[in-house]
Amino acid sequence: MSRGSTTLSSPSAFERDGFVGIAGRTRHIYDLVSGIYPVSTFLFHEKAHKVALSLAGIRDGMRVLEVATGSGEMFRRIAGLNPNGMTCGIDLSPNMAARTQRLARRRAGAKQTHCQAVDARSMPFRDGSFDAVVCCYLLELLGSDAILQTLREMHRVLRPNGRLALVLIGQNHPAFNVLYRVGGKLAPAFWGRQVEKAIPPAIEVCDFSIEHDRKVQQGFYPSRVMIARK
Ligand SMILES: C[S@@+](CC[C@H](N)C(=O)[O-])C[C@H]1O[C@@H](n2cnc3c(N)ncnc32)[C@H](O)[C@@H]1O
Repeated sequence: MSRGSTTLSSPSAFERDGFVGIAGRTRHIYDLVSGIYPVSTFLFHEKAHKVALSLAGIRDGMRVLEVATGSGEMFRRIAGLNPNGMTCGIDLSPNMAARTQRLARRRAGAKQTHCQAVDARSMPFRDGSFDAVVCCYLLELLGSDAILQTLREMHRVLRPNGRLALVLIGQNHPAFNVLYRVGGKLAPAFWGRQVEKAIPPAIEVCDFSIEHDRKVQQGFYPSRVMIARK
């Protein structure tokens, strides 16, 4: 996807490198930072996580999947809301998935929490397995084809009428966009690139309908929260 694009069709560094190459580097980098990543979640993502949860309609007893848990801060929030349900998570990085699983079992006290190292493009769950799917700050790290593949996977594993809560990095602040572009050039496998503007049409192509669309600002860091219904 090109900078500022509103479609997912233009080539980018992700397409040029090939998804397999970039995904291998992404897994490696996120494995390395898994112990310190909670600081970044606290500084940049916490507010958008709370907004997404307040809109996602998650209730106790549901079957909920978080895709790309990172170090598990949102996962524990979900598990805390869902003590008698089932909360599943996946992350490409084995260290992130292991940390998420360990801390959820220890701190959230939910009966059924499962987190495993899995690629979001192809998930080991049956069709319609979940009442809700949550995915925060993943799509920036995927190539254009992988974004569509992942959105289709999330659609497949959701039950009819189930909700997808998606959080993206906002593109509404020019100065932030410049900084992000620099970060993305220096470490594309860690920062990815902003894709927020191209995601609403992609969600609709994948047969979701958007119910809520909110901008959230935490310090200088912009996010966009979208809730979509299957
Ligand atoms: C920017 S972090 C966001 C973590 C967390 N969702 C949050 O809100 O703080 C992105 C996470 O996506 C994971 N990831 C990247 N590519 C993935 C893929 N193809 N499948 C599953 N997880 C992936 C990374 O390992 C990393 O933990």
